[in-house]
Amino acid sequence: MLSKSAILKNSLLRNSLNRLWKNSSTKTFRSHYSQKTQEIEKKSNEPTVAAKQINLRVWKNDQMSENELRPVYLDSQATTALDPRVLDKMLPFYTYEFGNPHSKTHLYGWETDLAVEQAREKVANLIGAESKEIVFTSGATESNNAAIKGVANFYKDRKNHIITTQIEHKCVLDSCRYLQEQGFEITYLNVDANGIINLEDLERSIRKTTSLVSIMAVNNEIGCIQPMKQIGEICRKNKVFFHTDAAQAVGKIPIDVNEMNIDLMSISGHKLYGPKGVGALYTRRRPRVRLEPIISGGGQERGLRSGTLAPPLVVGIGAACEIATREREYDYDHVSKLSKHFLDRLTKEIPHIKKNGNNPDLSYPGCVNISFSFIEGESLLMALKDIALSSGSACTSASLEPSYVLRSLGVKEDLAHSSIRFGIGRFTTMEEIDYTVDKLKEHVERLRELSPLYEMFLDGIDLNSIEWSQH
Ligand SMILES: Cc1ncc(COP(=O)(O)O)c(C=O)c1O
Repeated sequence: MLSKSAILKNSLLRNSLNRLWKNSSTKTFRSHYSQKTQEIEKKSNEPTVAAKQINLRVWKNDQMSENELRPVYLDSQATTALDPRVLDKMLPFYTYEFGNPHSKTHLYGWETDLAVEQAREKVANLIGAESKEIVFTSGATESNNAAIKGVANFYKDRKNHIITTQIEHKCVLDSCRYLQEQGFEITYLNVDANGIINLEDLERSIRKTTSLVSIMAVNNEIGCIQPMKQIGEICRKNKVFFHTDAAQAVGKIPIDVNEMNIDLMSISGHKLYGPKGVGALYTRRRPRVRLEPIISGGGQERGLRSGTLAPPLVVGIGAACEIATREREYDYDHVSKLSKHFLDRLTKEIPHIKKNGNNPDLSYPGCVNISFSFIEGESLLMALKDIALSSGSACTSASLEPSYVLRSLGVKEDLAHSSIRFGIGRFTTMEEIDYTVDKLKEHVERLRELSPLYEMFLDGIDLNSIEWSQH
């Protein structure tokens, strides 16, 4: 029987599959979006090309008229646009390369299996890992659940304590809460006014019974970056596993699992210009981390995550990681330049604003969280309809409680209510930043004119003396 690689190297077969692909599906499947890819790929030693070719605002949905533009997209922490180069790599796996990668007896299985393994290598390359240490999942939510519940349950006979922080993503906090209900003890570390943990607090919190420290790399609301290397050193020295939710970090800032002594790490495809519905969990092999799987079944992914993999999505996260390995520094410079311009203009042109998460050495420039005093963040969001944004205060309609992340930073209730998160990414342009600042100036000024709080401030009343009632 021919080996997998011999078959895949068979150029005749490959050519005929490619012909089939080009003839039958080009028109049907290639959108405005992915047609750009070929142009980009042709010139693409230069990463600038990708960003310049993509205009997120011109795509039309069914309800939009010819001249209408989509809003400026400044919500990169919620999700990122799929890079068209990634889509192009995925498309064949939605059509003729449809095999089950776990089928071991024919070409269809072998070719998708090979693509999955190549993707695994690309994910591993981006974070300095070995490909055997990568387990594919449905996203960072699943990876976080698998890591936290998996380690806790595997070591529960000897260890029942987990350390995390107060500003983790909900899926980490809820996994910890679930374990707490099962009898585990959880320490939720405080953070300082910029969202950074205190390393001495961390070390003091470690007990003989601690199995895991779970601390996110980049916060999704305020962009603060935890001191990963120092956390890793403390964990290794004290022989506890270090898990990090790096959904907002991988592909954005340098992450090396060995340099940082990371034992488990969660990654999300759609936060790094890859597809939604796929993620990865890095699990260290030396020293080995053991997990009790949360999904049982056919034993795929080394028994850690049963279920048939989705090759188009896996190929997508692999392609996204390959681009990030090549272009992360370029992206970082691009995002930093826009972020600096945005903040320079804001501070010069709009008074009474405050940046949340403001340690310059420990913040990711693509996540800018700003409180605009004297106005409700929600009213400002409504006014900025042609800019896609998210409220930093993330009020739930029932409670009108401000964000738990901002509260953990000690941000006062009125300021927490007036916060908005601006997410700058690979495809954001300088024109979009300028447009956003112009709109912000106009609406902040207008809303302040209507604001009783602003009037009180102008009358010299100390707003800190006001007791805010609970809704
Ligand atoms: C820090 C962080 N962790 C986890 C997640 C969940 O990621 P996914 O959508 O891949 O499940 C997100 C996404 O919102 C996030 O920002």
